[in-house]
Amino acid sequence: MSVGEPAVVEDFSRSVTWADPYAAYSRWREQSPVLARMPFVLPDGSEIETLNWLLLRHQEVYGVLRDHETFSSEPPQIPGIPVPRLPLVQDDPPRHSLLRRLVSKAFTARRIALLEPWIRQNAEELLEAMGDGEAEVMGGLAIPLPVRVIARLMGIPGEEYVAFKRWSDTFLSMNTRDLDPGLRARNATEMADYFGRVVAERRAQGAEDLISALVEAELDGERLPEVELLGFCVLLLIAGNETTTNLIGNMLNLLAARPELWRRVREDRSLVEPTIEEVLRYESPVQILFRFVRRNTELGGREIFQHTTVALGFGAANRDPAVFAEPEQFNIQRDWSSHVAFGGGIHYCLGAPLARVEATVALNAMLDRYETIAPGSRPGTRQIATNLVFGFTQLPLRVVCS
Ligand code: HEM
Repeated sequence: MSVGEPAVVEDFSRSVTWADPYAAYSRWREQSPVLARMPFVLPDGSEIETLNWLLLRHQEVYGVLRDHETFSSEPPQIPGIPVPRLPLVQDDPPRHSLLRRLVSKAFTARRIALLEPWIRQNAEELLEAMGDGEAEVMGGLAIPLPVRVIARLMGIPGEEYVAFKRWSDTFLSMNTRDLDPGLRARNATEMADYFGRVVAERRAQGAEDLISALVEAELDGERLPEVELLGFCVLLLIAGNETTTNLIGNMLNLLAARPELWRRVREDRSLVEPTIEEVLRYESPVQILFRFVRRNTELGGREIFQHTTVALGFGAANRDPAVFAEPEQFNIQRDWSSHVAFGGGIHYCLGAPLARVEATVALNAMLDRYETIAPGSRPGTRQIATNLVFGFTQLPLRVVCS
């Protein structure tokens, strides 16, 4: 190995960096992979500090995504500590392949196309309620739209929307020190109880939704166990809404700061797609996910030992100057086809087509309704509960109707 001792960096253990990690990415990318300290909060509220390899180069992140035999998605079990594990996204083959085949049926292009008019109607309804003038667009559009969509896919009634968001926020806050442990535990129990009831209802009487399909599905001649069904509900809840919410919020923030671009996209809707893809690259909703090293290997000239953990820096990879010219510039004319915002390899995001439809519908509805959008009287607030995703909790904008 040609390189010296790896850099051990503290930046990524601080929530001030999670609010805007990009300067830290460019500071450390040259030395990637670096060892990054990151807090991890266990389900009982106790906190452990983890030291993970953090990959900041596109080539490294992409390479790991394609090599699931060396880099496993199954988290190692810590004796005596029940760390929640999600089905599918935290499964390796052959189980991953079987589960993916099962769930894929809910995400076919046909199913998504059928859902589109309903998504549009919901977006228009939300904007009607948001009105004209100063508007908080996270609460008005970016949060409720994806929650409604995933709830509809899962066959969950509308009254649960608010609880849905609270539960998924809690689940994602696994590296924050700021959440009261009692509240964390209460939210987790509430969520498990709720999905337990939904699964029991679907067992008693099937319906035309994703949970019923999972309840009825068989793997190797056996029904999925209860714990797996609950895990799927949690996975879909989180994967389906935190991510798309951040995409829509980040997109509106970037456009509000670029009135000329807003005008151009409004006049030429063929620019909607490149705008969304450039947002995915430039401010990736999912910043970091993990892999667990199965056998000794090498990355960026460094030995990476079995049993260590690798953090994939999707956001950093998407600003790597080796792949994207002038990566710190937001430019909808660039070739964005290599971005890894939806991952890659066998775990490539199953919901990517749905997320793209949601973002397209949301942006078109905004463009139809508002002649201009601009920053509001107060700046937006970035979420700092976790370094896994990048987005706003609040984003006030000034929206002006045609
Ligand atoms: C902008 C929105 C989204 C982004 C940026 C995003 C990002 C990702 C990423 C990076 C992965 C790879 C995980 C890994 O490699 O470990 C993934 C997987 C996944 N996503 Fe998404 N996602 C989005 C929206 C959605 C939506 C709307 C759904 C479903 C309703 C969804 C469902 C899934 C599922 C089920 C997986 C696991 C696939 C597997 O392990 O085979 N995602 N997503």
